[in-house]
Amino acid sequence: MSENVIIFDTTLRDGEQSPGASMNAAEKVRLATQLERLGVDVIEAGFPAASQGDFEAVAAIAKRLENTQVAGLARASKADIDLAWDAIRHAVKPRIHTFIATSDIHLKYKLKMSQEEVLKAAVEAVKYASSLTDNVEFSAEDGSRSDRDFLCKVFEAAIEAGATTVNLPDTVGYTVPEEFGDLVKYVMAHTPNINKAILSVHCHNDLGLATANTITAIQAGARQAEVTINGIGERAGNTSLEEVVMTMHTRPNYVPLTTNIKTEYIYAASKLVSMITGILVQPNKAIVGANAFAHEAGIHQDGMLKNPMTYEIMKPETIGLNANKLVLGKHSGRHALHEHLKEMGYDLSKDELKTIFIKFKELADKKKHVMDEDLEAIANENLFHTDQVFELEYMHVTSGTTVYPMASVKLSINGRSVQGAGYGNGPIDAAFESIKKLTRAEAELLRFSVSALTGGTDATGEVTVRLRENGLVALGRGADSDIITASAKAYINGLNRLEYLKTHPVVDAKV
Ligand code: KIV
Ligand code: ZN
Repeated sequence: MSENVIIFDTTLRDGEQSPGASMNAAEKVRLATQLERLGVDVIEAGFPAASQGDFEAVAAIAKRLENTQVAGLARASKADIDLAWDAIRHAVKPRIHTFIATSDIHLKYKLKMSQEEVLKAAVEAVKYASSLTDNVEFSAEDGSRSDRDFLCKVFEAAIEAGATTVNLPDTVGYTVPEEFGDLVKYVMAHTPNINKAILSVHCHNDLGLATANTITAIQAGARQAEVTINGIGERAGNTSLEEVVMTMHTRPNYVPLTTNIKTEYIYAASKLVSMITGILVQPNKAIVGANAFAHEAGIHQDGMLKNPMTYEIMKPETIGLNANKLVLGKHSGRHALHEHLKEMGYDLSKDELKTIFIKFKELADKKKHVMDEDLEAIANENLFHTDQVFELEYMHVTSGTTVYPMASVKLSINGRSVQGAGYGNGPIDAAFESIKKLTRAEAELLRFSVSALTGGTDATGEVTVRLRENGLVALGRGADSDIITASAKAYINGLNRLEYLKTHPVVDAKV
Protein backbone atom coordinates (compact mmCIF):
# COMPACT_ATOMS: atom_id res chain seq x y z
CA MET A 1 0.00 0.00 0.00
CA SER A 2 1.36 3.42 -0.85
CA GLU A 3 2.07 5.99 1.82
CA ASN A 4 -0.22 8.92 2.52
CA VAL A 5 0.54 12.63 2.51
CA ILE A 6 -1.42 14.57 5.11
CA ILE A 7 -3.24 17.53 3.60
CA PHE A 8 -3.27 20.44 6.03
CA ASP A 9 -5.53 23.19 4.73
CA THR A 10 -4.84 26.72 5.93
CA THR A 11 -7.33 28.60 3.72
CA LEU A 12 -9.10 29.82 6.84
CA ARG A 13 -5.90 31.09 8.47
CA ASP A 14 -3.08 31.92 6.03
CA GLY A 15 -5.59 32.17 3.18
CA GLU A 16 -7.59 34.67 5.17
CA GLN A 17 -4.46 36.81 5.33
CA SER A 18 -4.88 37.56 1.61
CA PRO A 19 -5.44 41.30 1.28
CA GLY A 20 -9.16 41.99 1.67
CA ALA A 21 -10.17 38.37 2.25
CA SER A 22 -12.05 38.61 5.49
CA MET A 23 -14.76 36.05 6.12
CA ASN A 24 -17.36 36.12 8.84
CA ALA A 25 -17.92 33.25 11.26
CA ALA A 26 -20.87 31.72 9.37
CA GLU A 27 -18.88 31.72 6.14
CA LYS A 28 -15.89 30.14 7.84
CA VAL A 29 -18.04 27.36 9.24
CA ARG A 30 -19.59 26.80 5.83
CA LEU A 31 -16.16 26.61 4.20
CA ALA A 32 -14.83 24.31 6.90
CA THR A 33 -17.74 21.95 6.28
CA GLN A 34 -16.92 21.93 2.58
CA LEU A 35 -13.25 21.24 3.33
CA GLU A 36 -14.27 18.30 5.49
CA ARG A 37 -16.35 17.00 2.63
CA LEU A 38 -13.34 17.43 0.36
CA GLY A 39 -11.41 15.14 2.67
CA VAL A 40 -8.64 17.37 4.02
CA ASP A 41 -6.99 15.82 7.08
CA VAL A 42 -6.35 18.98 9.09
CA ILE A 43 -8.12 22.33 8.90
CA GLU A 44 -6.25 25.27 10.35
CA ALA A 45 -9.34 27.18 11.36
CA GLY A 46 -7.68 30.42 12.42
CA PHE A 47 -5.48 32.26 14.86
CA PRO A 48 -7.60 32.59 18.02
CA ALA A 49 -5.36 35.21 19.63
CA ALA A 50 -5.81 37.53 16.64
CA SER A 51 -9.30 38.71 17.57
CA GLN A 52 -12.48 37.76 19.38
CA GLY A 53 -14.05 37.10 15.96
CA ASP A 54 -11.27 34.68 15.03
CA PHE A 55 -11.60 32.93 18.38
CA GLU A 56 -15.35 32.50 17.97
CA ALA A 57 -15.04 31.24 14.40
CA VAL A 58 -12.40 28.67 15.36
CA ALA A 59 -14.54 27.51 18.29
CA ALA A 60 -17.63 27.20 16.07
CA ILE A 61 -15.67 25.15 13.51
CA ALA A 62 -14.19 22.93 16.21
CA LYS A 63 -17.69 22.14 17.49
CA ARG A 64 -19.14 21.56 14.03
CA LEU A 65 -16.69 19.21 12.29
CA GLU A 66 -17.21 15.48 12.64
CA ASN A 67 -13.96 13.87 11.50
CA THR A 68 -11.36 16.42 10.59
CA GLN A 69 -8.56 17.60 12.84
CA VAL A 70 -8.96 21.28 13.73
CA ALA A 71 -5.81 23.29 14.31
CA GLY A 72 -5.54 26.66 16.04
CA LEU A 73 -2.43 28.77 15.51
CA ALA A 74 -0.53 30.22 18.47
CA ARG A 75 2.71 32.14 18.85
CA ALA A 76 5.16 30.53 21.24
CA SER A 77 3.52 32.04 24.28
CA LYS A 78 1.37 30.59 27.04
CA ALA A 79 -1.35 33.22 26.49
CA ASP A 80 -1.68 32.40 22.78
CA ILE A 81 -1.61 28.66 23.42
CA ASP A 82 -4.32 28.97 26.09
CA LEU A 83 -6.54 30.88 23.68
CA ALA A 84 -5.90 28.40 20.86
CA TRP A 85 -6.68 25.48 23.16
CA ASP A 86 -9.85 27.12 24.48
CA ALA A 87 -11.04 27.59 20.92
CA ILE A 88 -10.29 24.09 19.65
CA ARG A 89 -10.76 21.92 22.72
CA HIS A 90 -14.21 20.71 21.63
CA ALA A 91 -12.99 19.42 18.28
CA VAL A 92 -13.03 15.65 17.72
CA LYS A 93 -9.32 15.93 16.98
CA PRO A 94 -7.84 19.22 18.19
CA ARG A 95 -4.33 20.30 17.21
CA ILE A 96 -2.29 23.17 18.65
CA HIS A 97 0.01 24.73 16.08
CA THR A 98 2.68 26.85 17.71
CA PHE A 99 5.50 28.66 15.96
CA ILE A 100 8.54 30.88 16.33
CA ALA A 101 10.99 32.19 13.75
CA THR A 102 14.40 30.54 13.46
CA SER A 103 16.24 32.55 10.78
CA ASP A 104 19.05 34.91 11.76
CA ILE A 105 17.32 37.86 10.13
CA HIS A 106 14.07 37.29 12.07
CA LEU A 107 15.98 36.71 15.32
CA LYS A 108 18.04 39.87 14.96
CA TYR A 109 15.45 42.36 13.69
CA LYS A 110 12.03 41.00 14.58
CA LEU A 111 12.37 38.94 17.74
CA LYS A 112 15.59 40.50 19.08
CA MET A 113 16.36 37.13 20.61
CA SER A 114 19.41 34.86 20.54
CA GLN A 115 19.31 31.30 19.17
CA GLU A 116 19.40 29.98 22.75
CA GLU A 117 16.39 32.12 23.69
CA VAL A 118 14.44 30.97 20.64
CA LEU A 119 15.26 27.34 21.35
CA LYS A 120 14.09 27.76 24.94
CA ALA A 121 10.87 29.53 23.89
CA ALA A 122 10.11 26.80 21.32
CA VAL A 123 10.63 24.03 23.86
CA GLU A 124 8.56 25.76 26.53
CA ALA A 125 5.72 26.40 24.08
CA VAL A 126 5.67 22.82 22.79
CA LYS A 127 5.88 21.40 26.33
CA TYR A 128 3.01 23.56 27.46
CA ALA A 129 0.91 22.71 24.39
CA SER A 130 1.69 19.00 24.92
CA SER A 131 0.33 19.24 28.46
CA LEU A 132 -3.02 20.12 26.86
CA THR A 133 -3.11 17.72 23.89
CA ASP A 134 -0.92 15.06 22.35
CA ASN A 135 -1.48 16.58 18.89
CA VAL A 136 1.03 19.43 18.67
CA GLU A 137 2.60 20.96 15.59
CA PHE A 138 5.66 23.16 15.79
CA SER A 139 6.66 25.52 12.94
CA ALA A 140 10.05 27.13 12.44
CA GLU A 141 8.99 30.35 10.75
CA ASP A 142 11.30 31.39 7.91
CA GLY A 143 12.76 27.87 8.16
CA SER A 144 14.00 27.86 4.57
CA ARG A 145 16.31 30.83 5.32
CA SER A 146 17.46 29.50 8.70
CA ASP A 147 20.83 28.06 9.57
CA ARG A 148 20.37 24.37 8.74
CA ASP A 149 21.97 23.02 11.88
CA PHE A 150 20.07 25.38 14.15
CA LEU A 151 16.86 24.37 12.37
CA CYS A 152 17.56 20.69 13.01
CA LYS A 153 18.45 21.45 16.64
CA VAL A 154 15.14 23.27 17.17
CA PHE A 155 13.18 20.46 15.47
CA GLU A 156 14.94 17.84 17.58
CA ALA A 157 14.17 19.76 20.78
CA ALA A 158 10.56 20.37 19.72
CA ILE A 159 10.03 16.66 19.04
CA GLU A 160 11.67 15.82 22.34
CA ALA A 161 9.27 18.27 24.03
CA GLY A 162 6.25 16.54 22.46
CA ALA A 163 5.71 17.89 18.93
CA THR A 164 4.16 15.24 16.69
CA THR A 165 4.52 17.36 13.55
CA VAL A 166 7.38 19.71 12.71
CA ASN A 167 6.75 22.16 9.92
CA LEU A 168 9.33 23.73 7.64
CA PRO A 169 7.94 26.92 6.10
CA ASP A 170 9.30 28.86 3.17
CA THR A 171 7.67 31.92 4.72
CA VAL A 172 8.83 34.44 2.14
CA GLY A 173 8.58 32.23 -0.94
CA TYR A 174 12.32 32.45 -1.58
CA THR A 175 13.46 28.89 -2.07
CA VAL A 176 13.68 26.92 -5.33
CA PRO A 177 12.83 23.22 -5.78
CA GLU A 178 16.36 21.82 -5.81
CA GLU A 179 17.40 23.77 -2.73
CA PHE A 180 14.19 22.97 -0.83
CA GLY A 181 14.30 19.26 -1.64
CA ASP A 182 17.88 19.25 -0.46
CA LEU A 183 16.94 21.02 2.78
CA VAL A 184 14.19 18.48 3.47
CA LYS A 185 16.69 15.65 2.98
CA TYR A 186 19.14 17.43 5.28
CA VAL A 187 16.52 17.83 8.00
CA MET A 188 15.55 14.15 7.65
CA ALA A 189 19.19 13.11 7.97
CA HIS A 190 20.28 15.50 10.73
CA THR A 191 17.33 15.52 13.12
CA PRO A 192 17.98 12.34 15.11
CA ASN A 193 14.39 11.82 16.33
CA ILE A 194 12.64 12.88 13.09
CA ASN A 195 11.10 9.40 12.78
CA LYS A 196 8.96 10.23 15.84
CA ALA A 197 7.23 13.10 14.01
CA ILE A 198 5.76 13.99 10.65
CA LEU A 199 7.82 16.45 8.64
CA SER A 200 5.57 19.07 7.07
CA VAL A 201 6.19 21.84 4.52
CA HIS A 202 4.47 25.18 4.08
CA CYS A 203 5.37 27.23 1.01
CA HIS A 204 4.54 30.68 -0.21
CA ASN A 205 4.30 31.57 -3.86
CA ASP A 206 6.31 34.78 -4.23
CA LEU A 207 8.34 33.32 -7.11
CA GLY A 208 5.51 31.16 -8.41
CA LEU A 209 7.29 28.05 -7.11
CA ALA A 210 5.13 27.03 -4.15
CA THR A 211 3.67 23.94 -5.80
CA ALA A 212 7.00 22.85 -7.30
CA ASN A 213 8.72 23.32 -3.94
CA THR A 214 6.02 21.37 -2.11
CA ILE A 215 6.10 18.48 -4.59
CA THR A 216 9.90 18.32 -4.40
CA ALA A 217 9.70 18.33 -0.61
CA ILE A 218 7.23 15.44 -0.70
CA GLN A 219 9.54 13.52 -3.03
CA ALA A 220 12.33 14.18 -0.52
CA GLY A 221 10.38 12.81 2.46
CA ALA A 222 7.90 15.41 3.75
CA ARG A 223 4.58 13.79 4.63
CA GLN A 224 2.37 16.79 5.31
CA ALA A 225 1.66 19.59 2.83
CA GLU A 226 0.21 22.88 4.04
CA VAL A 227 -1.97 24.35 1.34
CA THR A 228 -4.89 26.63 0.55
CA ILE A 229 -7.75 26.39 -1.91
CA ASN A 230 -7.03 28.46 -5.05
CA GLY A 231 -3.60 29.17 -3.54
CA ILE A 232 -4.92 32.23 -1.70
CA GLY A 233 -2.80 33.64 1.09
CA GLU A 234 -0.43 36.31 2.29
CA ARG A 235 1.10 38.34 -0.62
CA ALA A 236 1.38 36.03 -3.68
CA GLY A 237 -0.39 33.28 -1.76
CA ASN A 238 0.31 29.80 -0.47
CA THR A 239 0.73 26.47 -2.19
CA SER A 240 -2.52 25.57 -3.90
CA LEU A 241 -4.26 22.42 -2.66
CA GLU A 242 -5.64 21.52 -6.05
CA GLU A 243 -2.27 21.80 -7.78
CA VAL A 244 -0.47 19.55 -5.31
CA VAL A 245 -3.25 16.98 -5.14
CA MET A 246 -3.76 16.82 -8.90
CA THR A 247 -0.02 16.61 -9.56
CA MET A 248 0.12 13.58 -7.27
CA HIS A 249 -2.99 12.16 -8.87
CA THR A 250 -1.82 12.73 -12.45
CA ARG A 251 1.86 11.79 -12.09
CA PRO A 252 1.91 8.82 -9.66
CA ASN A 253 5.11 7.51 -11.22
CA TYR A 254 6.92 10.56 -9.91
CA VAL A 255 5.01 11.01 -6.67
CA PRO A 256 3.86 7.50 -5.69
CA LEU A 257 1.88 8.63 -2.65
CA THR A 258 -1.79 9.10 -1.91
CA THR A 259 -3.97 11.70 -0.19
CA ASN A 260 -7.44 11.44 1.33
CA ILE A 261 -8.78 14.17 -0.95
CA LYS A 262 -11.97 13.39 -2.85
CA THR A 263 -10.90 15.19 -6.00
CA GLU A 264 -14.47 15.45 -7.32
CA TYR A 265 -15.15 18.15 -4.68
CA ILE A 266 -12.20 20.34 -5.68
CA TYR A 267 -14.16 22.55 -8.06
CA ALA A 268 -16.98 23.17 -5.57
CA ALA A 269 -14.45 24.12 -2.88
CA SER A 270 -12.71 26.49 -5.28
CA LYS A 271 -15.98 28.19 -6.21
CA LEU A 272 -16.98 28.55 -2.59
CA VAL A 273 -13.67 30.14 -1.62
CA SER A 274 -13.84 32.69 -4.40
CA MET A 275 -17.49 33.39 -3.63
CA ILE A 276 -16.86 33.92 0.07
CA THR A 277 -13.64 35.90 -0.19
CA GLY A 278 -14.47 37.82 -3.36
CA ILE A 279 -11.04 36.83 -4.69
CA LEU A 280 -11.70 35.76 -8.24
CA VAL A 281 -9.74 32.86 -9.73
CA GLN A 282 -7.60 33.95 -12.68
CA PRO A 283 -8.98 32.29 -15.84
CA ASN A 284 -5.69 30.53 -16.62
CA LYS A 285 -5.20 29.22 -13.07
CA ALA A 286 -4.13 25.58 -13.14
CA ILE A 287 -6.87 23.03 -12.36
CA VAL A 288 -9.69 25.42 -11.35
CA GLY A 289 -9.37 28.42 -13.72
CA ALA A 290 -12.24 28.98 -16.15
CA ASN A 291 -9.90 28.13 -19.06
CA ALA A 292 -8.14 25.19 -17.45
CA PHE A 293 -10.12 22.72 -19.56
CA ALA A 294 -11.03 24.99 -22.48
CA HIS A 295 -9.48 24.09 -25.80
CA GLU A 296 -9.42 27.05 -28.14
CA ALA A 297 -7.08 26.11 -30.99
CA GLY A 298 -8.71 24.29 -33.90
CA ILE A 299 -5.97 21.69 -34.05
CA HIS A 300 -6.50 20.93 -30.36
CA GLN A 301 -10.27 20.68 -30.75
CA ASP A 302 -9.82 18.30 -33.64
CA GLY A 303 -7.50 16.11 -31.57
CA MET A 304 -9.87 16.23 -28.59
CA LEU A 305 -12.73 14.99 -30.74
CA LYS A 306 -10.63 12.08 -31.95
CA ASN A 307 -9.37 11.22 -28.47
CA PRO A 308 -9.53 13.55 -25.42
CA MET A 309 -6.18 12.20 -24.23
CA THR A 310 -4.45 13.98 -27.13
CA TYR A 311 -4.60 17.28 -25.26
CA GLU A 312 -6.22 16.55 -21.91
CA ILE A 313 -4.05 15.25 -19.09
CA MET A 314 -6.89 15.25 -16.55
CA LYS A 315 -10.59 14.68 -16.95
CA PRO A 316 -12.71 17.68 -15.90
CA GLU A 317 -15.04 15.29 -14.04
CA THR A 318 -12.13 14.28 -11.78
CA ILE A 319 -12.25 17.70 -10.11
CA GLY A 320 -16.06 17.85 -10.21
CA LEU A 321 -16.37 20.06 -13.24
CA ASN A 322 -19.52 19.46 -15.26
CA ALA A 323 -20.59 16.74 -12.89
CA ASN A 324 -24.11 17.12 -11.49
CA LYS A 325 -24.86 20.13 -13.63
CA LEU A 326 -28.52 19.45 -13.25
CA VAL A 327 -30.79 22.07 -14.70
CA LEU A 328 -33.81 22.78 -12.57
CA GLY A 329 -36.91 24.61 -13.73
CA LYS A 330 -40.12 25.98 -12.30
CA HIS A 331 -41.68 22.52 -12.17
CA SER A 332 -38.90 21.08 -10.05
CA GLY A 333 -40.07 20.19 -6.58
CA ARG A 334 -38.70 20.84 -3.14
CA HIS A 335 -37.31 17.31 -2.87
CA ALA A 336 -35.32 17.58 -6.13
CA LEU A 337 -33.95 20.92 -5.02
CA HIS A 338 -32.99 19.58 -1.59
CA GLU A 339 -31.24 16.54 -3.04
CA HIS A 340 -29.39 18.61 -5.59
CA LEU A 341 -28.24 21.17 -3.03
CA LYS A 342 -26.98 18.29 -0.90
CA GLU A 343 -24.90 17.11 -3.84
CA MET A 344 -23.51 20.62 -4.11
CA GLY A 345 -22.49 20.53 -0.45
CA TYR A 346 -25.40 22.39 1.15
CA ASP A 347 -26.98 20.34 3.87
CA LEU A 348 -29.90 22.58 4.76
CA SER A 349 -32.22 22.67 7.74
CA LYS A 350 -35.98 22.63 7.09
CA ASP A 351 -36.23 26.40 7.55
CA GLU A 352 -33.27 27.10 5.33
CA LEU A 353 -34.72 24.87 2.61
CA LYS A 354 -38.02 26.72 2.87
CA THR A 355 -36.29 30.07 2.28
CA ILE A 356 -34.15 28.79 -0.57
CA PHE A 357 -37.12 27.08 -2.22
CA ILE A 358 -39.10 30.34 -2.29
CA LYS A 359 -36.14 32.19 -3.83
CA PHE A 360 -35.60 29.36 -6.30
CA LYS A 361 -39.24 29.51 -7.43
CA GLU A 362 -39.03 33.30 -7.82
CA LEU A 363 -35.99 32.88 -10.06
CA ALA A 364 -37.47 29.95 -11.98
CA ASP A 365 -40.44 32.16 -12.81
CA LYS A 366 -38.12 34.72 -14.39
CA LYS A 367 -35.63 32.31 -15.92
CA LYS A 368 -36.30 29.05 -17.75
CA HIS A 369 -33.30 27.06 -16.55
CA VAL A 370 -31.87 27.45 -13.08
CA MET A 371 -28.23 26.37 -13.05
CA ASP A 372 -25.88 25.33 -10.25
CA GLU A 373 -24.34 28.80 -10.25
CA ASP A 374 -27.76 30.36 -9.71
CA LEU A 375 -28.46 28.03 -6.83
CA GLU A 376 -25.09 28.77 -5.31
CA ALA A 377 -25.80 32.48 -5.50
CA ILE A 378 -29.23 32.05 -3.89
CA ALA A 379 -27.83 29.82 -1.16
CA ASN A 380 -24.89 32.05 -0.41
CA GLU A 381 -27.03 35.14 -0.29
CA ASN A 382 -29.62 33.66 2.00
CA LEU A 383 -27.61 31.41 4.26
CA PHE A 384 -24.74 33.62 5.31
CA HIS A 385 -26.15 36.35 7.42
CA THR A 386 -24.08 39.00 9.03
CA ASP A 387 -26.06 41.14 11.43
CA GLN A 388 -28.61 42.75 9.13
CA VAL A 389 -28.49 46.40 10.15
CA PHE A 390 -29.57 47.49 6.67
CA GLU A 391 -32.06 45.64 4.48
CA LEU A 392 -33.39 46.50 1.04
CA GLU A 393 -37.17 46.65 1.09
CA TYR A 394 -37.89 48.25 -2.24
CA MET A 395 -36.14 49.91 -5.16
CA HIS A 396 -37.37 51.62 -8.29
CA VAL A 397 -34.93 52.89 -10.88
CA THR A 398 -35.47 54.97 -14.00
CA SER A 399 -32.83 55.28 -16.66
CA GLY A 400 -32.54 55.36 -20.41
CA THR A 401 -31.28 57.51 -23.25
CA THR A 402 -33.46 60.51 -22.49
CA VAL A 403 -33.77 60.59 -18.69
CA TYR A 404 -31.41 61.46 -15.89
CA PRO A 405 -30.93 58.19 -13.93
CA MET A 406 -32.82 58.23 -10.65
CA ALA A 407 -33.35 55.63 -7.94
CA SER A 408 -36.00 55.60 -5.30
CA VAL A 409 -35.09 53.27 -2.43
CA LYS A 410 -36.78 52.03 0.72
CA LEU A 411 -34.52 50.48 3.36
CA SER A 412 -35.02 48.99 6.76
CA ILE A 413 -32.40 50.28 9.19
CA ASN A 414 -32.41 48.29 12.41
CA GLY A 415 -36.04 47.42 11.71
CA ARG A 416 -37.16 51.00 10.94
CA SER A 417 -38.24 51.82 7.36
CA VAL A 418 -36.73 54.85 5.65
CA GLN A 419 -37.22 56.05 2.11
CA GLY A 420 -35.40 58.39 -0.24
CA ALA A 421 -34.22 59.06 -3.76
CA GLY A 422 -30.99 59.98 -5.50
CA TYR A 423 -29.57 60.77 -8.93
CA GLY A 424 -26.42 59.46 -10.53
CA ASN A 425 -24.41 59.07 -13.70
CA GLY A 426 -26.08 55.76 -14.32
CA PRO A 427 -28.75 53.64 -12.62
CA ILE A 428 -26.25 51.88 -10.33
CA ASP A 429 -24.66 55.15 -9.34
CA ALA A 430 -28.14 56.53 -8.57
CA ALA A 431 -29.02 53.46 -6.47
CA PHE A 432 -25.75 53.77 -4.52
CA GLU A 433 -26.31 57.49 -4.02
CA SER A 434 -29.76 56.86 -2.51
CA ILE A 435 -28.48 54.09 -0.24
CA LYS A 436 -25.57 56.25 0.84
CA LYS A 437 -27.90 59.12 1.79
CA LEU A 438 -30.25 56.87 3.73
CA THR A 439 -27.56 54.98 5.62
CA ARG A 440 -25.28 58.05 6.03
CA ALA A 441 -22.52 55.69 4.96
CA GLU A 442 -19.06 57.15 4.83
CA ALA A 443 -17.50 54.13 3.23
CA GLU A 444 -15.36 54.59 0.17
CA LEU A 445 -16.03 52.25 -2.76
CA LEU A 446 -12.68 50.61 -3.58
CA ARG A 447 -13.84 48.09 -6.12
CA PHE A 448 -16.95 47.23 -8.06
CA SER A 449 -17.19 44.21 -10.32
CA VAL A 450 -20.05 42.54 -12.15
CA SER A 451 -20.02 39.07 -13.61
CA ALA A 452 -22.62 36.82 -15.17
CA LEU A 453 -22.88 33.54 -13.32
CA THR A 454 -24.48 31.71 -16.20
CA GLY A 455 -24.69 32.28 -19.96
CA GLY A 456 -27.47 34.13 -21.78
CA THR A 457 -29.18 37.48 -21.30
CA ASP A 458 -31.31 36.04 -18.49
CA ALA A 459 -28.18 35.14 -16.52
CA THR A 460 -27.92 35.81 -12.81
CA GLY A 461 -25.55 38.74 -12.38
CA GLU A 462 -23.21 38.71 -9.43
CA VAL A 463 -21.81 41.92 -8.07
CA THR A 464 -18.91 42.26 -5.69
CA VAL A 465 -17.98 45.50 -3.98
CA ARG A 466 -15.11 46.31 -1.67
CA LEU A 467 -15.71 49.11 0.83
CA ARG A 468 -13.35 50.93 3.17
CA GLU A 469 -14.14 53.01 6.20
CA ASN A 470 -11.62 54.15 8.81
CA GLY A 471 -9.13 51.48 7.83
CA LEU A 472 -11.72 48.66 7.87
CA VAL A 473 -12.22 46.88 4.56
CA ALA A 474 -15.29 44.77 3.84
CA LEU A 475 -16.50 42.82 0.89
CA GLY A 476 -20.13 42.87 -0.20
CA ARG A 477 -21.86 40.50 -2.59
CA GLY A 478 -25.21 40.46 -4.25
CA ALA A 479 -26.79 38.34 -6.95
CA ASP A 480 -29.94 38.87 -8.94
CA SER A 481 -31.17 38.52 -12.50
CA ASP A 482 -31.36 42.35 -12.47
CA ILE A 483 -27.84 43.72 -12.14
CA ILE A 484 -28.98 47.02 -10.62
CA THR A 485 -30.71 45.10 -7.84
CA ALA A 486 -27.66 42.84 -7.51
CA SER A 487 -25.50 45.96 -7.15
CA ALA A 488 -27.74 47.48 -4.48
CA LYS A 489 -27.74 44.16 -2.60
CA ALA A 490 -23.94 43.97 -2.79
CA TYR A 491 -23.56 47.52 -1.51
CA ILE A 492 -25.93 46.88 1.39
CA ASN A 493 -24.20 43.57 2.15
CA GLY A 494 -20.85 45.39 2.27
CA LEU A 495 -22.27 48.03 4.63
CA ASN A 496 -23.62 45.29 6.92
CA ARG A 497 -20.20 43.67 6.94
CA LEU A 498 -18.56 46.95 7.85
CA GLU A 499 -20.99 47.25 10.76
CA TYR A 500 -19.97 43.72 11.80
CA LEU A 501 -16.27 44.61 11.65
CA LYS A 502 -16.87 47.71 13.77
CA THR A 503 -18.22 45.53 16.56
CA HIS A 504 -15.71 42.67 16.09
CA PRO A 505 -12.37 44.49 15.94
CA VAL A 506 -9.29 42.61 14.80
CA VAL A 507 -6.30 43.26 17.06
CA ASP A 508 -2.97 43.61 15.33
CA ALA A 509 -1.80 40.06 15.73
CA LYS A 510 -1.66 38.78 12.19
CA VAL A 511 1.30 36.51 11.56
O1 KIV B 1 4.45 31.27 6.44
C1 KIV B 1 4.66 30.92 7.62
O2 KIV B 1 5.79 30.81 8.09
C2 KIV B 1 3.49 30.64 8.44
C3 KIV B 1 3.75 29.96 9.75
C4 KIV B 1 2.94 30.53 10.85
C5 KIV B 1 3.53 28.49 9.60
O3 KIV B 1 2.38 30.86 8.04
ZN1 ZN C 1 2.41 31.07 5.82
